[in-house]
Amino acid sequence: MTTTKTELRKFVAPEIVYGTGSRCLVGRYARNLGATRVLIVSDPGVVLAGWLREVLASLESEGVRYHLFVGVSSNPRAEEVHQGVQVYLQEHCDAIVAVGGGSPMDCAKGIGIVLANKEHILTFEGVDRIVRPIPPLICVPTTAGSSADVSQFAIITDTVRHLKVSIISKALVPDISLVDYDTTRTLTPSLIACCGMDAFVHGIEAFVSNAHSLLTDVYALAAISLIWNNLPAAMEDPLNEAARQQLMDGSLEAGLAFSNTSLGAVHAMAHALGGLIDNPHGEANTLLVDHVVAFNYEAAPERFDLIAKRLGLEPARLAPGKRKEALVSALQQLKHDVGLEMKLRDKGISRSDIPLLARHALSDPCMATNPRRLTLRDVEVLYEQAF
Ligand SMILES: [Fe+2]
Repeated sequence: MTTTKTELRKFVAPEIVYGTGSRCLVGRYARNLGATRVLIVSDPGVVLAGWLREVLASLESEGVRYHLFVGVSSNPRAEEVHQGVQVYLQEHCDAIVAVGGGSPMDCAKGIGIVLANKEHILTFEGVDRIVRPIPPLICVPTTAGSSADVSQFAIITDTVRHLKVSIISKALVPDISLVDYDTTRTLTPSLIACCGMDAFVHGIEAFVSNAHSLLTDVYALAAISLIWNNLPAAMEDPLNEAARQQLMDGSLEAGLAFSNTSLGAVHAMAHALGGLIDNPHGEANTLLVDHVVAFNYEAAPERFDLIAKRLGLEPARLAPGKRKEALVSALQQLKHDVGLEMKLRDKGISRSDIPLLARHALSDPCMATNPRRLTLRDVEVLYEQAF
């Protein structure tokens, strides 16, 4: 009997508690991890929406002290990471709790990296560069998008070189993720769109990644369906509990997938874009996704056809030459439906920026798992198509 050899694959995930009220377990888990004084990392929007209140109450009820570091900007910067490190040390903290979207969670991870490894945060760019484990980290995501609460990724902005640095390591998987879809109740439709599109692209890029596997495929396809079926409804009525819950579930599953497969050219190019113009990450992905899928299709047509089926298309009924077009049209329709149909030129990019963007994108670690190899010229052409 012949057997097919499987390439080695691993799957890493934190302990995850999901469902209504899980955010109120922060105190119990902090105490279980041995924390006596935690640094709370968050941002002004989350504070204003009131999501810190119950987290702080749960810490108080367990006798765990805390100090707030809640000024994190969207697209967290290297300087903010080092400010957080100073605060952690001054306040004698022994664990970190991040409450918010990708920005506070990535900043929290950055703080942990520097605390444990004592080098500038930007020196850890790339894959598996972190030697020592970070302090205990508990995450409470308040958007259905980044999935930094389950991922091996942290994205930090280098404001000197105007680019986003991807740091990827098993050391960045939080200890506990408390996934509570109640926290998305206060999101605006435009934030739901950006975060949901980010998660949707996570699902697509994970499913066609060179490093996909049995386990990641299950999560990636489930995420694509959940987000496709619920994003417009959640935007239309942010109080639609069922839609928000399924969006959060989809984001979680997309996160479990991409954390273990890495991403692809959409993210590599979106990171370069975000580094230059500091726009929302989900918006940057949306500007590029249809162009990159059209380029990548020929490298994995069966996989893209399976994605198309999850979008309600019937590629088997189409001539092979029409299948890519149908998928790309569906993605363009989604961009329209979520109000993110803009072009790069609408975001202040000029044609002369494209060569620099392409160079940055090509050196992003996410490019390594894209299903089709790209030259510098390929990347430039994709930016030009999105221009
Ligand atoms: Fe992303």
